[in-house]
Amino acid sequence: MSIAEKFVSMEYGPAPEDPKEAGAWLERHGRRFGLFIDGAWQAPAAGEYFETLDPSSGDKLASVAQGGVPDIDAAVRAARAACPKWRALTPHARARYLYALARLVQKHSRLLAVLETMDNGKPIRESRDIDIPLVARHFYYHAGWAQLLDQEFPEHEACGVVGQIIPWNFPLLMLAWKIAPALATGNTVVLKPAEFTPLTALAFAELCQEAGLPAGVVNIVTGDGTTGEALVKHPGVDKIAFTGSTEVGRAIRGATAASHKRLSLELGGKSPFIIFDDADLDSAVEGLVDGIWFNQGQVCCAGSRLLMQESIAEKLTSKIRDRMSSLRLGPPLDKAIDIGAIVARVQLDRIQRMVEQGVAEGATCWQPQVALPSRGFYYPPTLLSNVHPTSIVAQQEIFGPVLAAMTFRTPKEAVELANNTVYGLASCVWSENINVALHVAAQIKAGVVWVNCTNLFDAACGFGGYRESGYGREGGKEGLLEYMEPKWFKHAPKLPATTAVVSAQVVESPEAGTPAIDRTVKLYIGGKQARPDSGYSMEVRAQDGRLLGEAPLGNRKDIRNAVEAARKAEGWAKATAHNRAQVLYYCAENLGLRRDEIIRRLAAVVGEKQAAAEVDLGIARIFSYAAWADKFDGAVHNPPFRNIAIAMNEPIGTVGVICPSDAPLLGFLSLVMPLLAVGNTVIAVPSEKYPLIAGDLYQLFDTSDLPGGAVNIVTGYVSQLLKTLAEHDDIDAIWCYGDEATVASAKAMSTGNLKQVWTNEGRTIDWFNPQLAEGRWFLEHATQVKNIWVPYGE
Ligand code: NAI
Repeated sequence: MSIAEKFVSMEYGPAPEDPKEAGAWLERHGRRFGLFIDGAWQAPAAGEYFETLDPSSGDKLASVAQGGVPDIDAAVRAARAACPKWRALTPHARARYLYALARLVQKHSRLLAVLETMDNGKPIRESRDIDIPLVARHFYYHAGWAQLLDQEFPEHEACGVVGQIIPWNFPLLMLAWKIAPALATGNTVVLKPAEFTPLTALAFAELCQEAGLPAGVVNIVTGDGTTGEALVKHPGVDKIAFTGSTEVGRAIRGATAASHKRLSLELGGKSPFIIFDDADLDSAVEGLVDGIWFNQGQVCCAGSRLLMQESIAEKLTSKIRDRMSSLRLGPPLDKAIDIGAIVARVQLDRIQRMVEQGVAEGATCWQPQVALPSRGFYYPPTLLSNVHPTSIVAQQEIFGPVLAAMTFRTPKEAVELANNTVYGLASCVWSENINVALHVAAQIKAGVVWVNCTNLFDAACGFGGYRESGYGREGGKEGLLEYMEPKWFKHAPKLPATTAVVSAQVVESPEAGTPAIDRTVKLYIGGKQARPDSGYSMEVRAQDGRLLGEAPLGNRKDIRNAVEAARKAEGWAKATAHNRAQVLYYCAENLGLRRDEIIRRLAAVVGEKQAAAEVDLGIARIFSYAAWADKFDGAVHNPPFRNIAIAMNEPIGTVGVICPSDAPLLGFLSLVMPLLAVGNTVIAVPSEKYPLIAGDLYQLFDTSDLPGGAVNIVTGYVSQLLKTLAEHDDIDAIWCYGDEATVASAKAMSTGNLKQVWTNEGRTIDWFNPQLAEGRWFLEHATQVKNIWVPYGE
């Protein structure tokens, strides 16, 4: 067709990117790749290889090593051996390596982009203009952090050897998100790429060689899920960073529970794309194209649930259909293609299956008339309307170019629908009324909210989920902290295994008025004292064996009541930080008034000296968190677009706290106060050794204007109460302070709804040292960062 004819017909001609360089690179390697371990290429121990295919044709691209247990072991050993020297480098020296990697990514950007498209099936336009530039940006950004590390984080040190497992949807970008912060903070790495898309990670290994990176600092072990599993289970790994499906994330949480591996999980999503009737509809439709048809919808934060205000639903749907009809689907190396190939046959089958199920559940399916290429794995852009909010296509990740549309009437209903999944990764809000948009953004449970924009990413802005979308952030300062620990904590001695208070007698609760013992306490639920459901109490004895009193034996029912009360008290999060500070100051004041009587009682269990220290330091600790309440602010980022990203520190929600037994008052306050300061509600299980402290604490809260339900106290056996807390689906996080066995069970039992678990890792915490036992480290764990992106300019 001549140019003149094309001009008249407005037909696109082919515009393929030249794959010669990538082809030559594959040939240079004989289309067969080993493992990159200790700075050199080696064959897999078992001699097994698998094929990686070009999804646009189904043709084989190369054979890639299937790493096994011995290969993972060799890689972890190499990383361990490289660790001391890498960590001992000056920050400037490490910064130069990261800078060199950024430069090399830019230098080889064309090869990397083409290779990515060939291996993954994504349009070259995306790999060339989005994936690879963001990879370079990530290494530049973290070169900066490497340089500033000692100044900004003098009290932290690297985790050590980090195992990283990445998915196939953004292969090189996910590698950069993982490797750059790990190296910047002085860790060494074993990375396992996804089995469908290993090639750019292997090309990156060559860049590491070209940059002269010391051997063993980065190791790349290809393979399938079993290779990932071997990495997760290897005892020589200090931290696991995983991106992928929620199902595998859950398995990894379980597999690492009995270890001290730190864990960050970036999992699936079902992100709402909310369009209000006053939105600029044409812009919103363009945003939607990016939201759900970018990378064929194989995006963890894809805007896969369209929520339209009812009054514009018809008009908007017609605009969406028009736009869908002009999307160009075809060979991804063509520069004028919008939608490329699905990564693999199994993924294509999965998409088809889920769409069929959605239709069976009542959805109406609409697809534009597009010719699918005869070879390769393609799926047309798809709109499912009349979707019921409980349908599988509204609740589960499809990971394909499929949009599920629903309507709403009011902003309140939009927020309810938006939050009506187990996920919480991202969201878009479109409205020309910035007040409404920001009000809605604040209420959505998601780590990222894009206002009047879609799918913007930057290394300076943390990315990650709420709820079952995982925990931890990638990018920004918060992402960096995932790869470091306070120095003192890493080297803190192990706590001796607790002797559970098995000797305590279980007794029937005394009749009211029976004067046999010194003191009985009750549970504290919803701001009221409550009798335990079981009707039983446990005896509490002094150091000398004297009976001090009885504390209720809380059970599942009591925990359930406490969770309900805590949920009802969520208004605490909306109180101003100033108000929260005032309530905390009031608590400190009231503790001061009761100082002497509390010391007298506590002394029977921990001795006079410790009792006095617990109360006096306790008053100071509450003061500290009252002070922090209105100072632990977020940040405003200036990403390289015409946007600001507002990073808000939001409370996690309702948190179950297992308090340490060794400092019954100070331990309780050290954990509960930071949570309260930033707006969480709490269900606390006080020290098993001295649960009677509950009585003093609830008197304190009762007289300090703390809203009922913001703190609930359930006494009883930790082993029983922890299980109910950890398995409860309406609790967002567990803070568990105890011996190794206790914290391991907290992690293992929390896999159900993937709640965040923060523990002392069975180590001793010196609650009497404010340098260690209070401050930012606690507040960082009491919050999660939400980034709200807002564009500016005409
Ligand atoms: P996946 O979660 O199985 O794979 C992700 C990575 O984990 C791969 O490198 C894989 O080899 C590894 N892996 C698998 N099993 C493992 C185990 N037991 N231990 C350690 N590592 C393991 O995801 P898959 O099967 O590729 O895709 C299935 C679905 O997951 C998709 O349809 C999509 O819904 C979701 N997904 C979500 C992603 C996200 O970014 N949120 C990315 C990829 C997939």
